[in-house]
Amino acid sequence: MSGFRHVTGSAVATRSLGTRLGALLLAGDVVLLHGDLGAGKTTLAQGIIAADRPGVPVQSPTFTLVNEYPATADRPALHHLDLYRLDGPDDLDSIGFDDLVAAGDGIVLVEWPERLGPDLPGDYLLISIEPDGPDRRRIDLRATPADGRHARIVDGIRD
Ligand SMILES: Nc1ncnc2c1ncn2[C@@H]1O[C@H](COP(=O)(O)OP(=O)(O)O)[C@@H](O)[C@H]1O
Ligand SMILES: [Mg+2]
Repeated sequence: MSGFRHVTGSAVATRSLGTRLGALLLAGDVVLLHGDLGAGKTTLAQGIIAADRPGVPVQSPTFTLVNEYPATADRPALHHLDLYRLDGPDDLDSIGFDDLVAAGDGIVLVEWPERLGPDLPGDYLLISIEPDGPDRRRIDLRATPADGRHARIVDGIRD
């Protein structure tokens, strides 16, 4: 199975799901965070980034488009992208998106992946967050392709 649904009842619960996810991520993984404004993408990202960087503040790179978190003793570097304000393919080039993915030397975490247009990476974990009331969120994980490298993350989070 390559999909998994988890429901959280608070931002704290979403963050802690992120921390469990973060511990499963490896260099070269690409995680796309899909959901409307206020869905909880950055909240989940905070958990993922905090997995090995306790106390490091995480803000959404809304204006810079990308924030870099260097590798730690036992975790790869992480590139946190927020493409909400992306203007087009030129912006994507200036971030060096394709190179980031191709280099495979860090984790690439993307808010607003729909801004990538049709040029999605070949392999990724898609996380869709959907509000269900003020504090409930349905969080769906799906590995693409279903038998690709990201399937192990779905299996790991389910166990
Ligand atoms: N279960 C939940 N999971 C995530 N965020 C939640 C949840 N319940 C309430 N919230 C609130 O929803 C907002 C999500 O904001 P944010 O993570 O910045 O969203 P996005 O990055 O998708 O725009 C925060 O104010 C957070 O406290
Ligand atoms: Mg955000």
